[in-house]
Amino acid sequence: MADPLRREPIRYVALALIASFGVWYVNFSRNLPGPLLDINPRGVLHPEPGGLHIVVTGGAGFIGSHAVMVLAEAGHAVTVLDNLSRGNAGALRVLRDMIPSRRFRFLRLDLGDRAALCDALGQISPRVDLVMHFAAVAYVGESMRDPLQYYKNVTVNTVNLLDCMAANGIHQLVYSSTCAVYGNPEKLPVTEQTPPLPINPYGQSKLMAEEVIRWYARSQPWFKAIILRYFNVYGSDPQGRLGEYPRPELRSQSRISGACMDAALGLVDKLTVKGTRHPTEDGTCVRDYIHVMDLISAHVVAMKHLDNPPPLYNIGTGKGVSVKQFVEACQRVTQRDIKVVYQEEARPGDYAAVWSDVSKINRELGWRANFTDIQEGLQHAWQWRMSHPEGY
Ligand SMILES: NC(=O)c1ccc[n+]([C@@H]2O[C@H](COP(=O)([O-])OP(=O)(O)OC[C@H]3O[C@@H](n4cnc5c(N)ncnc54)[C@H](O)[C@@H]3O)[C@@H](O)[C@H]2O)c1
Repeated sequence: MADPLRREPIRYVALALIASFGVWYVNFSRNLPGPLLDINPRGVLHPEPGGLHIVVTGGAGFIGSHAVMVLAEAGHAVTVLDNLSRGNAGALRVLRDMIPSRRFRFLRLDLGDRAALCDALGQISPRVDLVMHFAAVAYVGESMRDPLQYYKNVTVNTVNLLDCMAANGIHQLVYSSTCAVYGNPEKLPVTEQTPPLPINPYGQSKLMAEEVIRWYARSQPWFKAIILRYFNVYGSDPQGRLGEYPRPELRSQSRISGACMDAALGLVDKLTVKGTRHPTEDGTCVRDYIHVMDLISAHVVAMKHLDNPPPLYNIGTGKGVSVKQFVEACQRVTQRDIKVVYQEEARPGDYAAVWSDVSKINRELGWRANFTDIQEGLQHAWQWRMSHPEGY
């Protein structure tokens, strides 16, 4: 018979190995760079009393990450689904460190993988109350070059999501749409009655996803949703916890806010403004820049007004600002010597001018934007970028 004392060293070695694996695992999943593992994949989340369990698709992205932060602060439990094809794993690490683990989970998942999506929605606990669907590819120029990617990722993935929500008895949705659905409107500002006539696959694929949601709602009386058409989103958390960081490989597509900060930090040698012969006052495009915190506050209000048929709202400031004015404000805020190149040729698929009429959401839901001075919003974005020059 084996002497029990002789087994002790083996036990100690085994325990030491298990302990060091545990320490390695915690460091591996916590530490910067390196792959981000799922966070809390099998845990049961616990919203605060009165809170919900909300699934946020695209929660590693610029807008989604800010939404997760605000929802968690309000006591909701949040499960993020994101494939990290865009967005930043670093934003999820910030959220993980900020939110109690009983109220935060991340699953790395592609919404194009219908089986994995349905499984995930069926397995996470507690039962999901509401989905905020931010995940998408969202660059006008890219959509002109690769339209199929847009119809798949934006339209088909919305079909997948609705399908998996139905299979798991989840009946509430907040949908991120865009002002790109309006194309080049004849009359400005655009109201929700303005006929949607998209001029690029990005806007078209979002409009089709909206249609899918509306038709699906007609067939499912218990399903409730709201569709929000965002104008141009910029800014960042005024407390500097999260920001907008276009990943280096996406810099060539980047939106004007990220691109301007990239130029101010010397990450790119110049800022190119594309299109100087639009029929606008200074020839550059005119847009309605909405601060990300205002956008999320609109979601917090909107999630209490889901309905069937799904209501539709513009989310903007109601004010048009030209790209030239935006760049000049960015130069004033950063006080850096940014080389700006004004290129006559417009970006394919770009519309000249669009800004919102927001009287519907103001009248019906009592929401309006707070940060209407773009210099203030750019100051928030710049503060975060300066303290994170290499991003997350
Ligand atoms: N940023 C804007 O100005 C703006 C304006 C109007 C509408 N929107 C809409 O808001 C939403 C969020 O935009 P954003 O600026 O935060 O973009 P973003 O690229 O920063 O975030 C999108 C996130 O979705 C994820 N994602 C993409 N495809 C996925 C897939 N198949 N499966 C799982 N995850 C996937 C990405 O990894 C990323 O983290 C999008 O739906 C976009 O169309 C944005």
